[in-house]
Amino acid sequence: MNPTTLLPSTILMNQVDLKTLIQEHGTPLYVMNESYIRHQAQLFKASFQHASFQTEIFYASKAFLTLAMVKLIEEEGLSLDVVSLGELMTAIKAGFPSQRILFHGNNKTLLELQTALKHKVGLIVVDNPHELDLLMSCLTHPQDVLVRLNPGVEAHTHEYISTTKHDSKFGMSIYSGETIEMIERIHNHELLNFCGLHCHIGSQIFDPASFQKEAYLLLEFMKKLKEKHLILTSHLNLGGGFGVRYTEEDDPFDIQIHFKSILNFIQTTCDAFNLDYPRVSIEPGRSIVAQAGVTIYSIGATKTTHSGKQFVFVDGSMADHIRTALYQAKYEAKILERPLVEPQAVYSIAGKACETGDILIHECALPLPQVNEHLVVFTTGAYHYSMASNYNRLLKPAVIFVSEKEARVIVKAQTIDDLLGLDVV
Ligand SMILES: Cc1ncc(COP(=O)(O)O)c(C=O)c1O
Repeated sequence: MNPTTLLPSTILMNQVDLKTLIQEHGTPLYVMNESYIRHQAQLFKASFQHASFQTEIFYASKAFLTLAMVKLIEEEGLSLDVVSLGELMTAIKAGFPSQRILFHGNNKTLLELQTALKHKVGLIVVDNPHELDLLMSCLTHPQDVLVRLNPGVEAHTHEYISTTKHDSKFGMSIYSGETIEMIERIHNHELLNFCGLHCHIGSQIFDPASFQKEAYLLLEFMKKLKEKHLILTSHLNLGGGFGVRYTEEDDPFDIQIHFKSILNFIQTTCDAFNLDYPRVSIEPGRSIVAQAGVTIYSIGATKTTHSGKQFVFVDGSMADHIRTALYQAKYEAKILERPLVEPQAVYSIAGKACETGDILIHECALPLPQVNEHLVVFTTGAYHYSMASNYNRLLKPAVIFVSEKEARVIVKAQTIDDLLGLDVV
């Protein structure tokens, strides 16, 4: 399914003309194709199934979370992974069933753990021994837990979004004795139920073999737990990280084909290791929402520097689009009023923040942009609104959901009053 349709003089999302949205809501504006998000949720659910395993899909909140998004996830029957009090309370406020919430993160506070317990979340993922001490100190009832492991898989992604190299801050190494000690403490605690292992090897991963390698190392660890320490595991969570297409360089794997082979691989490995089949789960974020989203900007000045570099300035910035500065991420964009016109030159799209690094797209082929035209940047549904800041006291844009039937505001644009509301003199 294509989230947008390019016409000679505009871009449609479902049947909604993006131009009508900016007339009503202004720019910058985040617009997300709700039907596409639902389509992705259903595709993941249908593809991540296996006759021999129970499976579960936790949508990774960090990619994009609002009350409306929580409701969508619930309606589509996915579970939810949260990593902070804010994400947890968004889920709770939206009435999400807490038994389908998994809480992970590498430095949960006492308040976060107490709140997770109070709301009876299904799973808490323990990251380290200190966190286990905290959890034990506030336990009031039995709690299912997983342990976050670091198997040291190199997933060929950007350094900052690769999370299981040996020096990553996340989880406990599968090679450390401390990890076994921690699991034994959980296993022996009367109120803790050690269910199994959790891992996330990185993001924007294009090679399905990385997930097989991850699964193999975790199953090998489960075998060791069983044979050497007499500890059984019932859950295996492989995390998220499934790649999406930002530009034509990106080539995501077909989940319908590869999820089946990953699950078949887990089955044969369990058989070889003499392990019971675990409940297998994943935590996709980006792959559910990234391609659903676009950001629309108004084009302001253009500038050619003394060295010949051509800039196009837009009314947003790294405050609403941080991934280029953070990860050297690449994007494609079109002029809303003329999306099909052949490009004439390659421009750098820069924002209005007071930073040289405030570049949204380093190389963007466009027809000569005109003041007051609009630029549509594609694939901004994940880690854009959720990473937005008020740097330079810039305001966060509204978010619009476009379904088959209607376009509706799901997050209002921030106002100057909102911005000043927490300041005290
Ligand atoms: C533990 C964990 N699970 C899931 C995700 C979601 O990853 P993605 O959005 O790339 O699918 C992340 C992302 O950082 C993560 O750290």
